Amino acid sequence: MAHEITLLPGDGIGPEVTEATVRVIEAAGVDVSWDEHRMIGQSAVDDDRPALPPDVIDSIESTGVALKGPITTPVGGGFTSVNVQLRQRMDLYANVRPCTTLPGLNTPFEDTDLIIFRENTEGLYSGIEYFDERLEIADSIARVTRRGSERIIRFCFEYAKAYGRDRVTLAHKANILKKTSGLFLDIGEEIAADYPEIAFDNEIIDALCMKLVMTPGDYDCIVSTNLFGDILSDLAAGLVGGLGVTAGANIGDEYAVFEAVHGSAPDIAGQNVANPTALIRSAVMMLRHLDEEAAAVTIADVIEEMYEEGECLTADVGGSASTTEFAEAVADRVSHRTGR
Ligand code: NAI
Ligand code: MG
Repeated sequence: MAHEITLLPGDGIGPEVTEATVRVIEAAGVDVSWDEHRMIGQSAVDDDRPALPPDVIDSIESTGVALKGPITTPVGGGFTSVNVQLRQRMDLYANVRPCTTLPGLNTPFEDTDLIIFRENTEGLYSGIEYFDERLEIADSIARVTRRGSERIIRFCFEYAKAYGRDRVTLAHKANILKKTSGLFLDIGEEIAADYPEIAFDNEIIDALCMKLVMTPGDYDCIVSTNLFGDILSDLAAGLVGGLGVTAGANIGDEYAVFEAVHGSAPDIAGQNVANPTALIRSAVMMLRHLDEEAAAVTIADVIEEMYEEGECLTADVGGSASTTEFAEAVADRVSHRTGR
């Protein structure tokens, strides 16, 4: 039976990298029935609809799984980030971002193999904000809850266990943020006791940033609250070749939305130069989630080979191939491999 998947191409480079990714999934012979929704974010607002339209929510509620391109968020004013709304609305509490060195890429370290687990629904991104117009005082409230902390930390340990990882580091700032980071750290220590086979330690966020850019090979799984996790995952992406290659997944108990770490990259949109690797690798995570292990492995292997050979890569990783040339090359090899 075909997998029903909601497809949200997004804007900026979104439609280009999404088309490339769909091409590769189809080449792998996975039977998918796509439910595509193009109207989201600014395009929906321009059409007098909510930035996150109800038909998108209905679709994900029915399919359970979405593949999503980036969506531009206006800076300062304008609508609330569709990405944040979607994560909160669908309760996608775990943001998982694997950052592993690809062969052949010119990066400062050869042995980086990190997975960042970011709490995705609360913390400083809770959306609780106040502004006193008269005094010009602004507040953004970080809300950390026991329930929210327990589920992301447990998710991280369970993932570590399932994928044979042996260490979890909790990133915090409990020396200063005694309430929010303090609660998160206390809960981390409680949950770690249930997983004696996995080493557990904690690091203060700023010191961890320094250590990560000096000795990333010392770390394995890192779990943190929303803002720290957001920053750490871009930092980790930078250690393994940048945003063009870094995949992500937003996972909850009922729904999962797979998307690259990068944004809509307005500086290169519409030029057919964006790197679709990040979204293709997100699709690999999606295929695993759908128990399409063989297709996932084939696509992941082909991507590794393409980087090892270095002959057909996009400009952000030192090549000169266009988005479509790279996608065609990947799709050709994948379909050859799967005998289609
Ligand atoms: P960005 O990730 O879009 O771009 C940062 C830099 O990386 C740019 O120089 C861009 O050209 C480059 N880059 C990003 N992805 C690339 C790719 N696949 N191939 C080659 N180069 C790539 O971050 P920025 O500029 O901060 O954000 C742009 C917009 O995207 C903003 O409106 C932001 O809110 C939104 N955004 C959306 C996200 C989502 O939908 N999940 C995530 C992050 C940002
Ligand atoms: Mg981010």
